Amino acid sequence: MPLSHLMNTYARLPVAFTHGEGVWLFDEAGKRYLDALSGIAVTTLGHNHPRLVEAISAQAGKVLHTSNLYRIPLQEKLANRLAEISGMDEVFFCNSGLEANEAAIKLARFYGHKKKGVDLPTIVVMEHAFHGRSLATLSATANRKAQAGFEPLVPGFLRVPYKDLDALRQVAARNRDVVAVMLEVLQGEGGVHIVDNSYLCELRALCDVHGWLLICDEVQCGVGRTGKWFGWQHAGIRPDIMTLAKGLGSGIPIGACVTAGPAAGLFQPGNHASTFGGNPLACAAALVTLDVIARSKLLTNASRVGEAIRERFIGALAAVPGVVDIRGLGLMVGIELDRPCGELVARALEAGFLINVTAGNVIRLLPALIFSNNDVKTLVDGIAPLICDFLPQ
Ligand SMILES: Cc1ncc(COP(=O)(O)O)c(C=O)c1O
Repeated sequence: MPLSHLMNTYARLPVAFTHGEGVWLFDEAGKRYLDALSGIAVTTLGHNHPRLVEAISAQAGKVLHTSNLYRIPLQEKLANRLAEISGMDEVFFCNSGLEANEAAIKLARFYGHKKKGVDLPTIVVMEHAFHGRSLATLSATANRKAQAGFEPLVPGFLRVPYKDLDALRQVAARNRDVVAVMLEVLQGEGGVHIVDNSYLCELRALCDVHGWLLICDEVQCGVGRTGKWFGWQHAGIRPDIMTLAKGLGSGIPIGACVTAGPAAGLFQPGNHASTFGGNPLACAAALVTLDVIARSKLLTNASRVGEAIRERFIGALAAVPGVVDIRGLGLMVGIELDRPCGELVARALEAGFLINVTAGNVIRLLPALIFSNNDVKTLVDGIAPLICDFLPQ
């Protein structure tokens, strides 16, 4: 008999948390854990942040949901704020990363039909990409294991190696149906891989030459995590479409598909919709998240503390055989080992740390943007010995 009637979609660790405080979570037995994962890049402000608690409590006492059939002033305010910090034009609100990407994919196809006269639009996507698990976003995702059993996949995607401009140039020479290129500036699920700024600049230029939309999936790396509001800002470019979710509401579900230039002004009433998208509660959470990031200088903190995490881990592990690379940007950190290391997650949990392993052999750390230097010391002092013990001497 199963323990519960939950569908078996997650291999869950045997722990449940009752409450949190800042970067700490507490389980039913009162044991505390340093949270270096933030619910996979979600709890931007940490747990139980007073401003967030106050904002969502106050909003809950006014109105939770009305409908996108009516004006929602908080949504308009949030769209304006997102436009201000991104330099982009329009926002469609939804509830999750895959929904934001689904909107981006639909927009790119719409652009192809309406603006380029392409009947069967193709979107170029990357190896190791992760864009979600709906049928379209799963088809854009590069994980064969995740796709297996769900065929037929959605057509209209063409995959190229990440960071390979020549591959894109070859696509341009051969394929007249391409309407967009979609990528994560920093691949999270794929193993914490970063593209160079020069690659992004050349990609932007290539998109301009061919009239392709540039779509940046910032679901994991956006909202301050890399030390800038959005990952592409490191390269000084601007995409035509950007997708956000995870950290935007600091724990309250909200997603956004943000557009600029040729991608703006395309959708009209009836082209896309979401019942819950951008409801007053979610917008209140996102507005306060962005406000606290700005007022508490959490972008600078993310850069500084992220660098400190990498430096400390490099100091502790660089000479350890089996440690292949320690990389990342801001508070998105990957420690690649030369072997599968999924079991480190349970060992870390036992020791009072929440971490994650992705792509089989990359330890992934995604702490809240409020992580401090003291937290870095606690984290590295706790996790580095576990890694050393795990690797053979
Ligand atoms: C880059 C990226 N895009 C999209 C998604 C999907 O987001 P969600 O789980 O909210 O649908 C994720 C989730 O991990 C992600 O990392």
